[in-house]
Amino acid sequence: MDEIILTGIKPTGTPHIGNYFGAIKPALELAEKHENSFYFIADYHSLNTVKTAEELKTHTYEVAATWLACGLNPDKVVFYKQSDIPEVFELMWILCNVTPKGLMNRAHAYKAAVQKNNEEGLDPDAGVNMGLYNYPILMAADILLFNTNLVPVGQDQKQHVEMAKEIARYFNNKYGETFVVPKEYIRESVKVVPGLDGRKMSKSYNNAIEIFAPQNELKKKIFSIVTDSSLPSDPKPTDHMLLELYKLFADPCEVAELTDKFKAGIGWGEVKKIAFEKVNEILTPLREKFNEIYSNKAMIDDILKQGAERARKLAKDTLLKVRKAIGAQE
Ligand code: TRP
Repeated sequence: MDEIILTGIKPTGTPHIGNYFGAIKPALELAEKHENSFYFIADYHSLNTVKTAEELKTHTYEVAATWLACGLNPDKVVFYKQSDIPEVFELMWILCNVTPKGLMNRAHAYKAAVQKNNEEGLDPDAGVNMGLYNYPILMAADILLFNTNLVPVGQDQKQHVEMAKEIARYFNNKYGETFVVPKEYIRESVKVVPGLDGRKMSKSYNNAIEIFAPQNELKKKIFSIVTDSSLPSDPKPTDHMLLELYKLFADPCEVAELTDKFKAGIGWGEVKKIAFEKVNEILTPLREKFNEIYSNKAMIDDILKQGAERARKLAKDTLLKVRKAIGAQE
């Protein structure tokens, strides 16, 4: 049978083109190639960092509309919200009981929090809640519940998937073969998408171009990219951020053409205009689609509800098997 692909998406605000090329696009391409894929919004994973109910709600709709606008086909991909699947949380509790505490002590996010506290002379666990501590076990439940074979994630999530594998093995050793042991599928680092200042694009650097930024904002951002004071007739450095940006959106012929102009000499104003127009040409249909979907919350609710129904069919089967294995059910 075809492999089962599953990945979780944390609802954290409006995505930028770094997220688009680094995560969304490759994940959608992967889903195209497989019959059984489960993509879900990991809303309970973000309870940890989200500050208000309003924020959770808004971000959930934003991220749902984002993936749908970027091309996720909910008839094909099972697209749901984690909190709509109660089986995840029952499984998580069961998994807690085969997970050694020491394994969680080694989780990068927890260790980083402890280290920061130590450096600041605070109690090692200051500000650490059990949501942070148990985060990898919830993630294991997400994955193991659907007999997942492949988990496409960025490098930063590798350890979490490895922990899910270990947890599956602990359970299988204790109760007999029950879970599929998943494999991580680490996205090859697509060329790092540079931000407006040339550093890696990241919300925390404040150098991001949002995928759905209104046209005038997009223009302002692209025109704000720093250039030098060379004359239009001077050759331009072909490693410049504006050309890198253009490469993400233009086809190879167009890239070759602009690269030649860089070598021959071209005014920066002209470069910015060409780059903006190309980026805008690609992003405009996405932006329009996003706005249309985002303004129809009932439709999003409906899609996620249907996804949850499909997901729960499989989730219930797995959970029944697990309940039998542990002796909770005949
Ligand atoms: N922790 C992941 C992240 O921060 C999101 C996530 C939650 C996830 N559950 C998952 C990813 C299961 C893959 C599989 O990006």
